[in-house]
Order: sequence, then structure tokens, then C-alpha cells
Amino acid sequence: MGKESKGVLLVVEDDSGLQRQLKWFFDEYEVIFATDQGSAIKQVRRFDPDVVLLDLGLPPHPNDIDIGLTTLTEILGLSPATKVIVVTGNNDRDAAVQAIGLGAYDFYLKPFDEEILKLVVNRAFRVRELERENQRLLAIGQNAVFEGIIGASEPISMVNRLVEKVAPVDASVLILGESGTGKELVARAIHNLSGRRDGPFVAINCAAIPENLLESELFGYEKGAFTGAVRQTLGKIERAQGGTLFLDEIGDLPQPLQAKLLRFIQERKIERIGGHEEIDVDVRIVSATHRDLKTFIQEGGFREDLYYRLSEVVIHLPPLRERSGDIILLGKYFLQKYASEYKKKVGGFSREAIQSMEAYAWPGNVRELENKIKRAVIMADAGIIDVDDLELESNRVDLPFNLREVRANAEREAIVRALAYTDKNIAKAAELLGVSRPTLYDLMKKLHITTTD
Ligand SMILES: Nc1ncnc2c1ncn2[C@@H]1O[C@H](COP(=O)(O)OP(=O)(O)OP(=O)(O)O)[C@@H](O)[C@H]1O
Ligand SMILES: [Mg+2]
Repeated sequence: MGKESKGVLLVVEDDSGLQRQLKWFFDEYEVIFATDQGSAIKQVRRFDPDVVLLDLGLPPHPNDIDIGLTTLTEILGLSPATKVIVVTGNNDRDAAVQAIGLGAYDFYLKPFDEEILKLVVNRAFRVRELERENQRLLAIGQNAVFEGIIGASEPISMVNRLVEKVAPVDASVLILGESGTGKELVARAIHNLSGRRDGPFVAINCAAIPENLLESELFGYEKGAFTGAVRQTLGKIERAQGGTLFLDEIGDLPQPLQAKLLRFIQERKIERIGGHEEIDVDVRIVSATHRDLKTFIQEGGFREDLYYRLSEVVIHLPPLRERSGDIILLGKYFLQKYASEYKKKVGGFSREAIQSMEAYAWPGNVRELENKIKRAVIMADAGIIDVDDLELESNRVDLPFNLREVRANAEREAIVRALAYTDKNIAKAAELLGVSRPTLYDLMKKLHITTTD
């Protein structure tokens, strides 16, 4: 593979002794050097490195990290996909955190421990490589990939595991979740991971089609079946032959069609409207709804027998606000996606932007996040996305006003964070929170927080 097989590592570091050491240490990569802001930018333009090790204390003012941070922003502006690892002194954690907010991939605190540094750098190359592979697959076409359901939170990892398990089995799957949580994405992933991946994936939105047209959309019709039926037309069910039929917003399927769909599922045969023959159809059925179907059944809006046919496996997609950590992960993903789509040099988020994204309730879930970031990328001039670009404040509707509730929520959140931060060490958590240990125990009891799960 020649040149391409060797990744390019740019080291921005003015200590020539250290330079030599690093060159020798990272001999599996093509290592290039820069000593200051100007030369770093030149090297990035020339070599488009995969990974950059950037010392934040650059000459001529090694104690002024602003030069380092500007260099970071400039590098990401030129080459948003580059993984920049910032290097700072051990007492400069704050600077490192700030750099992450600006879009750095990782940080490393001096002094160098060669083994650990190697792990950090290798991981960055690996991530870069995976992103390339992903882009390559995306470029080939939608159906080629297990479309990445992005997220590292516990609830979304569970969804991913479930998807991988049920995909190869021909069971019917019902996907439940608020609007914008990724229901269609999951349906496609199930199709793409199944033995039917080479067959068609046919989606129909039961809420978007008028009731009187829905039947012919689903079952098709023969020529002359009704006025305007000028030629034989296949329905969506038949078009999904050998593949997957995705019934979106199944909760909105009108009652008479619920009965007809049920009959199809039981017999696996359809009759086109105006037709006289029964046609065998082999499809896997995946459906989705944002409605609470169980309640809807009790209210008489949905047939229970159909529900059980559709829901051999149920996948619950959690709302975005319950996927801790995923907001930033998805945010960065959409930022890169739209920056490259619109050829915009936007490299990351300001710290305030990150905080406000984490605090926001995201009533429209991932779709809303995607739209907000897309808009922000279009509006941003260059550099980074700031709080104002996101326009988040106005509709924080579902936060409570009752002060006792607000306080309890805030307390719970702080305690859960402190416990996570200290690996559930009560003494350390109490210290972080500025209360005594017995007080923390009392609060945990009051707020029903345990350390056992
Ligand atoms: N985990 C995820 N990773 C990456 N992209 C995601 C993820 N979840 C959702 N998206 C993206 O967010 C958008 C909305 O997702 P999707 O259409 O699947 O949601 P939905 O639940 O079907 O929404 P609606 O109820 O509004 O129809 C899509 O562009 C999708 O690609
Ligand atoms: Mg949808």
C-alpha cells in the first residue's frame, strides 16, 4: 500500500531532544515536526496529518496557553478530522479541559510516560482509521453498512446489543420511543444486519397517508379496481417481498386496516384491491410508534391481537436526555458531518455551548440536536460553535417550577455526579459536595439514591 499504510503524526514541540526521542519512539508512523504556531499550520497544510501532538506551551510565550489554543482551533479549521492530542504541564488540567471543549480529541499531561503516550496516540490513529472506513462505507451507499447508532451510554449500548441479537432472527420487532429518538435508524439497522439485507427495505408511514389511500398503498390494486386505477399497481407489502416492511407510526393505523393487516400477518398472503388471486408474500415486519400502545389498546384504539403479532420483540429507545454523555458524542458527530458537507471550517464547541447542550431537555431528541447543529454550522463563520449559535434557551418547557422539586432535582443530579466521579466513594463524594458524610447519607435516603447499582 506504500505511502498510505503509514499514518502521519505531527509533533508540535520545540524541545529538540524530545523531538528526537519521539521520532524514534513512533517509528511506525511518519513523524513530522513543527516548533511553533506558524510552522505547525504550514505542516498541517502540507501533510494533512492524521494525528497531532500539540504542546500547548508554545514559543515565544510558553506560559501563555492562548497561543496553543489558537493553534488548535486553526488546525481543526484546516483539517477537522485530524485528531489533536494536546500536551500540557501537569498543573494545567484546566487548559486541557478547555482544549477538549474546543475540539481536541484527547489530552496528555507531561511528563511523558512513553508506554501510555503510545497507547493514547495509537488509539487516536485507530479512531481516525475507523472514521475513514465509515466514510468510505457511507459513500458506497446507505445500505452497505450497519448504520452507526451512535452513543456510548448504557441505555443505548443495550439497544445496540438487542439490535444485533434480534436482527438475524426473523421475529417481528416493535420499536417504541419519543419522536426523533432514532426509530427509523434502528429499523434500518435491523434490516441491514439481517439475512434480508440484499432484499428491499420498504417503509410506509401510516400517519402520513389519508385513510382512504392507505389500503391501496399497502395492498396495491388491479387495473380498473376503482376510478383512476389505470394500471396494476403493487402495494408496499408486495414490494417488500424478500425484504423488510417498516410500518412507521403503526399506532395511527385506522381500525379497519388493523383487521386487514392482521389477516395478512396470519396468512402471509395478500389480495390486491380488485384482484382475485392470493399472493404469497415473504416479509419481515418491523414497526414503530411514539404512542403508548398499551394504553391505546385499553382505550380501544388498537387491536390487542395485532399488537402481539407485531411485538415479538420490543425495543424501547430512551429519550436523548436519559442517555448521559451521548449528547456531546452525537453533537460532535453531527458537527463533523455538516462541517464537511457544507465545507465549513468549524472545529468544535465552546465550553459554554457544551454545558448548555448538556443542560437542555431535548424534547425533539436526536432529530432536534441534529437540526440545531446543522443550523449552527451553517450560521457559524469559522472556528467554534458558541452557545448563541445553538439557540437553545427558549423552550426549556419541561423543567419544573416548584422550588422544592427544582431543588431536589439539582441535589440529586449533583450527588449522582459526585458519586460517579469518586467511584461511589461516599467520603470523597461528601467532600466534593461540601457536606458531612451523615448528611450525604441522609440526602441519599431522602432522594432514593443507592450505590449498589
Ligand atoms: N443514535 C444515533 N446516532 C446517529 N444518528 C442518529 C441517532 N439517532 C437518531 N439519529 C438521526 O436523527 C434523525 C432522526 O432519527 P429517526 O428518523 O430514526 O427518528 P424517529 O424516531 O424515527 O423520529 P420520528 O418519530 O420523528 O419519525 C435521523 O437523521 C437519524 O439519522
Ligand atoms: Mg420516524
